[in-house]
Amino acid sequence: MAEERNNNKAGEPEQSGIPRHIAIILDGNGRWAKKRGLPRTAGHAAGSENFRKIATYCRDIGVEYLTVYAFSTENWQRPEDEVRTIMKLLERYLNEAISTMERDHIRMKVFGDVSGLSPKLQKLVAKTNEISSRYEGFQANICLNYGGRNEIVSAARRYAEDYAAGRVTGELTEEQFGNYLYSAGISDPDLLIRPGGEQRISNFLLWQCAYSEFYFTDVLWPDFTSAELDKAIAEYQRRDRRFGKVK
Ligand code: IPE
Ligand code: IPE
Ligand code: MG
Repeated sequence: MAEERNNNKAGEPEQSGIPRHIAIILDGNGRWAKKRGLPRTAGHAAGSENFRKIATYCRDIGVEYLTVYAFSTENWQRPEDEVRTIMKLLERYLNEAISTMERDHIRMKVFGDVSGLSPKLQKLVAKTNEISSRYEGFQANICLNYGGRNEIVSAARRYAEDYAAGRVTGELTEEQFGNYLYSAGISDPDLLIRPGGEQRISNFLLWQCAYSEFYFTDVLWPDFTSAELDKAIAEYQRRDRRFGKVK
């Protein structure tokens, strides 16, 4: 069964000014490449390099969790060669991460339906999970073959199985349900960033973003620097998080 969830309760925002948990929709890779007369896949390569930089920066400024949307359940509908290149890049990325995670103290988890990935990727995911379980500290979550609705439905299925088998009893609570999500045990995102100019959620963290602050920018993901992240955090710090209450 899922582990205990240490949820950020509504009404208990982080106090330091630095979001505990930042979520980013890594969007705009294709347009970044097109602007330079390059194939879309070159944009994905640049985007994956940028993730490395931003993850390290987040760790350095004291963010606890960074959750990024790298490949959605809908992205399988893209041209076959684009999907193939993205999967190759992910393989390369995870391979490199495995050799550097311990040194850099970056824990990494994959959120999504891993069973839909290639056996090679599944092995790499299992290995990164195993390394991550060995130490504490900053954690990056990579959403891969991830869909918010899919996450909720699969949580509901697993809860129903546990209920039918008598492993859980009583009335289902929000906290309990959260334990069945990929994000079990992780506080909800304080700040959700979408580069790339679109102002939509595209099936990302539908449950967890109930009270996240949203930040949209036209900057394309491969151009999204640590200075851009600072801007997003500064904007976040100006927001008034009320969680339904009156201040
Ligand atoms: C995001 O960049 C990466 C994935 C969805 C895999 P896009 O590939 O969506 O880039 P644009 O939006 O077409 O520019
Ligand atoms: C969202 O970007 C998914 C990821 C970044 C992985 P998309 O480019 O797929 O989203 P839409 O199609 O513009 O909504
Ligand atoms: Mg896009």
